[in-house]
Amino acid sequence: SPSDPDLVERARAAKEKLGDKVFVLGHHYQRDEVIQFADVTGDSFKLAREAAARPEAEYIVFCGVHFMAESADILTSDDQKVVLPDLAAGCSMADMATAEQVAECWDVLTEAGVAEQVVPVSYMNSSADIKAFTGKHGGTICTSSNAKRALDWAFEQGEKVLFLPDQHLGRNTAVRDMGMSLEDCVVYNPHRPNGGLTADELRAAKMILWRGHCSVHGRFSLDSVNDVRERIPGVNVLVHPECKHEVVAAADYVGSTEYIIKALEAAPAGSKWAIGTELNLVRRLANRFAPEGKEVVFLDKTVCFCSTMNRIDLPHLVWALESLAEGKLVNRIEVDRETEAFAKLALERMLALP
Ligand code: 13P
Ligand code: SF4
Repeated sequence: SPSDPDLVERARAAKEKLGDKVFVLGHHYQRDEVIQFADVTGDSFKLAREAAARPEAEYIVFCGVHFMAESADILTSDDQKVVLPDLAAGCSMADMATAEQVAECWDVLTEAGVAEQVVPVSYMNSSADIKAFTGKHGGTICTSSNAKRALDWAFEQGEKVLFLPDQHLGRNTAVRDMGMSLEDCVVYNPHRPNGGLTADELRAAKMILWRGHCSVHGRFSLDSVNDVRERIPGVNVLVHPECKHEVVAAADYVGSTEYIIKALEAAPAGSKWAIGTELNLVRRLANRFAPEGKEVVFLDKTVCFCSTMNRIDLPHLVWALESLAEGKLVNRIEVDRETEAFAKLALERMLALP
């Protein structure tokens, strides 16, 4: 816990011993006890850029989840080592699209005669294999902070987009930011023959959405929004675009974790906010902004942490830092060269988006 002075002191001492050799990145969903040791905090996009901008650091300790550490490895040089303090920190959404399933999907698109018109756009929350598939087929990666720009770019390259693996971010961006209709979107279900779609449906669709979702954000419902508006008159509802379409449509503001923080920084004293995203972040924001007279509450009545983000706790961070300080490389995340080359292509297309 943050109040365990022994572990806090050990983390501090190990970090000091490592000096410039180590750089610690912390995603906004990390626990307070971990985030206090981050050299930089950010959303997925900011952390990818920060990782790429630290060529002097021999070790990048990534306090976040597996796909983020993979992306950092892809964007850093070969002699830099990316460390994930707990290897079990995955992401259930990223696991919803495997390389085999996506290859099979491409066969289905090819057989329907549409593959040539399709540009893949993959959410950062995907494995390095999926990013490599994306790069190989002329597509780009996106995050929740640049999804619209990624789709604008993709529709300049082709007529259709295959959006992986978060159907909600894909649908929300298409409908809310690009003026498409719900009918322009179809959902490809990897557990059904031909994705559960006919060739005609694939031909008519503009957005082919992979059937993946985030179980943390999936818990917010239209009822959560209606309830909080009733409970707190004048409340501003601010949600992450991984929420379901009906939640996003009913919200006042939508954006990435970094956007959420900036919105609260800019909010006037006396304003009230209900936030639909992971709980570590919402609690931290509630504590931070209470003294300024900004009321911040969690959008739902029941709490929801991201259990895999939470796997990175202070004991794991201390273990990783102390091991590195003793010259022992632990929990390295390393993407193989071929996958890395194609995945990098896709990530660099994202970094080059206007
Ligand atoms: P962002 O921090 O990019 O908004 O992403 C949220 C998320 O779910 C990361 O897993
Ligand atoms: Fe994955 Fe959702 Fe957790 Fe983000 S919040 S890491 S998308 S499970």
